[in-house]
Amino acid sequence: MSTALFPQQIIARKRDGGVLTPTEIQSFVRGATDGSWADYQLSALLMAIFLRGMTAEETAGLTSAMMHSGIVADLSSLRMPKADKHSTGGVGDKVSLHLAPMIAACGVAVPMISGRGLGHTGGTLDKLESIPGFLVNLSLGEYRTQLEKTGLALIGQTAELAPADKKLYALRDVTGTVESIPLICASILSKKLAEGIDVLVLDVKFGRGAFMADKTKARELAQALVAVATAMGKPTRAVLTAMEEPLGRTVGNALEVIESIDCLKGHGPADTMEVTYALGEQMLLLTGVAKTKEVARAQLEASITRGTALEKFRAMVTGQGGDTRVVDEPARLPQARWKVPLMAARAGFVQSVDAMGVALAALRLGAGRAKAADPVDHAVGVSGLVKIGERVEAGAPLCVIHANDEAALAEAKAMLGKAITIGDAAGIALKLIDELIG
Ligand code: URA
Repeated sequence: MSTALFPQQIIARKRDGGVLTPTEIQSFVRGATDGSWADYQLSALLMAIFLRGMTAEETAGLTSAMMHSGIVADLSSLRMPKADKHSTGGVGDKVSLHLAPMIAACGVAVPMISGRGLGHTGGTLDKLESIPGFLVNLSLGEYRTQLEKTGLALIGQTAELAPADKKLYALRDVTGTVESIPLICASILSKKLAEGIDVLVLDVKFGRGAFMADKTKARELAQALVAVATAMGKPTRAVLTAMEEPLGRTVGNALEVIESIDCLKGHGPADTMEVTYALGEQMLLLTGVAKTKEVARAQLEASITRGTALEKFRAMVTGQGGDTRVVDEPARLPQARWKVPLMAARAGFVQSVDAMGVALAALRLGAGRAKAADPVDHAVGVSGLVKIGERVEAGAPLCVIHANDEAALAEAKAMLGKAITIGDAAGIALKLIDELIG
């Protein structure tokens, strides 16, 4: 196949259902990075890819070109295995905050570059920034130093890492081209593989609160992610997990930090710990630190019972400028002006807790952002959420709403009232860990 030279030729080839050559893909990614392609040309090709798809080879080529559009961190001087996990995003998904220190406590470095919340899902960086003083904008040098000192760094994307993704994601966000498996695959993996990791574990969520609500589509995405990352030399597995009700009992930045610290102290909610162990086991197995799932589980449990994971968390917070006193004094985290319980109108069983409904209520309170540049209110959200299947009495709290604005409080209350359904028969939660891929 000959190689097209001009953007319009490359766009037309994909528009007509053709397969792009590695050179054409590199030209596109270079065009996104150095500005030599106009935004309308980049957007046109994004739409053609969205409509026509990409072969596995094209997706791998796009991922590699985007990953090499910036620096690929070299952490080979770090004499320990390096693993990361990535979640496609959920409601109340605070797993990274406590899983990373648990893994570091097991002797595996976790160089984690995370994102901010957008749309209805929360972001790890926003949660961490609710800790007074915590810095997520470390340079690559500081990131490396932090990893050498503690085996753990949780930072935001830097301008040096996968800059093509930054440009392309911003265009996708405003051109209706986000929900494309090859584009999602290249976007996620270009950033993760530029971190300098040895292995990767992915939490691909499906259900009402997930980015890919449909399970078949989520599985397709998981398979594509695993295939591309593995083809690029990074052993990768994906765990398909349900996101019908929020994970844990809190949604909101500081509130989720408190729940994550509870997980590290051994008091984490059962569902949150189930996902944490499922992902952690795969991280320890893939790095070879544990030979069986049972051994991996025992190591992870020991990191909590011996307090080593909590110590790693403290070391990370100190190293990144945060106030570690929040670990023992959660009241030092941002507090909302109003903390109002939502009472059950009747006795019965929790039939459903709609993750999307709860997320939208949290968004209304100010916990998330509608546009990338919006600020978030770290204090607000929902705590003490009931779980599907639980018995409640009339007048008992279904959750506590944390608000800083009276109008938002009233609206969130109504939204949460609709999101939580109480009936005569107990609802049955979906199986949380649905499938392992890879
Ligand atoms: N997260 C990303 O980083 N990129 C996508 O395309 C979708 C989710």
